[in-house]
Amino acid sequence: MSKKIYLITGGAGFIGSNYIRYLFKRYKDIMIVNLDKLTYAGNTANLKDIESSENYIFIKGDICDNGVVNKVFREYHPDYLINFAAESHVDRSIGNPDDFIRTDIFGVYILLEASKELGIERFIQISTDEVYGSIEKGSFTEESSLKPSNPYSASKTGGDRLAYSYFATYGLPVIITRASNNFGPYQYPEKLIPLFVTNALEDKQLPIYGDGRNVRDWLFVEDHCIAIEFILQKGKVGEVYNIAGASEKENIQITNHILELLGKSNSLIHYVADRIGHDRRYSLDASKLYNLGWKQEYEFGDALKETIQWYKENSDWWKPLKSGEYLEFYKKHYGMEL
Ligand code: NAD
Ligand code: DAU
Repeated sequence: MSKKIYLITGGAGFIGSNYIRYLFKRYKDIMIVNLDKLTYAGNTANLKDIESSENYIFIKGDICDNGVVNKVFREYHPDYLINFAAESHVDRSIGNPDDFIRTDIFGVYILLEASKELGIERFIQISTDEVYGSIEKGSFTEESSLKPSNPYSASKTGGDRLAYSYFATYGLPVIITRASNNFGPYQYPEKLIPLFVTNALEDKQLPIYGDGRNVRDWLFVEDHCIAIEFILQKGKVGEVYNIAGASEKENIQITNHILELLGKSNSLIHYVADRIGHDRRYSLDASKLYNLGWKQEYEFGDALKETIQWYKENSDWWKPLKSGEYLEFYKKHYGMEL
């Protein structure tokens, strides 16, 4: 059997880089092509240990650029395309939605068109639980209606449904995944867990939005990667799969847990103005994926400990990220200096 070729788009970001590392840990006989624009969130340092592998090719390029995407298809003939590329931070989408609409909708269209014209065995669109919107009680199944409520989740919903339309209309072998909040190594320190861990390590304030009681379901990134690969191999085309962490927590609970694990005082907690349109609670029913045979491998508390340890040991990775444009965004967004 010839080597399978994976085209990973957005592979220099948090989840994409963890997925590439997971694939290389699991398979010897694959080829990975990573197409990434290297936005502020993309970082080649995320894959330092992989970049010299003869089975790995990095291409700096934009998924919205038809010429680049077509060239990659013609040169490498990928078997699988897994699209992680996106603008991913809700707060940035509130201030400036342009790039979200461009990459998270138009970029998906360009990838779908190239796949339709030049062929693909599987197209995995990495969507998100945010497409369902907020839920007070109970959990969303894949059949629930979609009610995104911020520019990030609305643009992700556009990409999600566009991908489905290429299955329904043209028979493209598309599968869509919708995961809950990820955490783990290499997450850009603007998201809740890495921001609070790195701020606490430096005895800086932890800015909690509103009353701190919004609920998110937390999924360790390695479990997410295992699930994506499982779905790629075992999932049915045209289907959507929820991927849950089964660990729902209020933001204040997570914050206290981080402070406790770091041995820091909760006087670092600082309540700030709420996020506009802040979804109260996300919750997924992932029975469909469990019934297919996927099992979660990591327990939340252990995975959080492991993650914190990683940030403690890798300040060389995150300290340079908290500079320049990041500091400007921080000041404008939180109304305080870091
Ligand atoms: P991230 O912001 O860390 O990484 C995004 C990557 O995409 C970066 O490497 C960036 O350079 C690249 N990129 C952005 N625009 C691009 C473009 N036009 N062309 C090529 N590359 C581009 O994001 P993440 O947290 O790793 O999320 C990855 C995917 O998973 C996203 O699609 C996101 O919506 C989805 N998702 C994330 C979570 C989460 O909790 N982080 C949960 C569910 C789903
Ligand atoms: O649910 C999946 C989504 O999770 C992904 O699709 C997104 O790409 C990802 O960014 C994430 O979105 P959230 O908005 O849930 O994640 P974030 O880490 O930004 O915030 C988590 C919760 O913490 C949310 O209720 C807002 C709150 N928060 C966040 C930050 C950055 C704070 O209270 N203070 C903060 O400074």
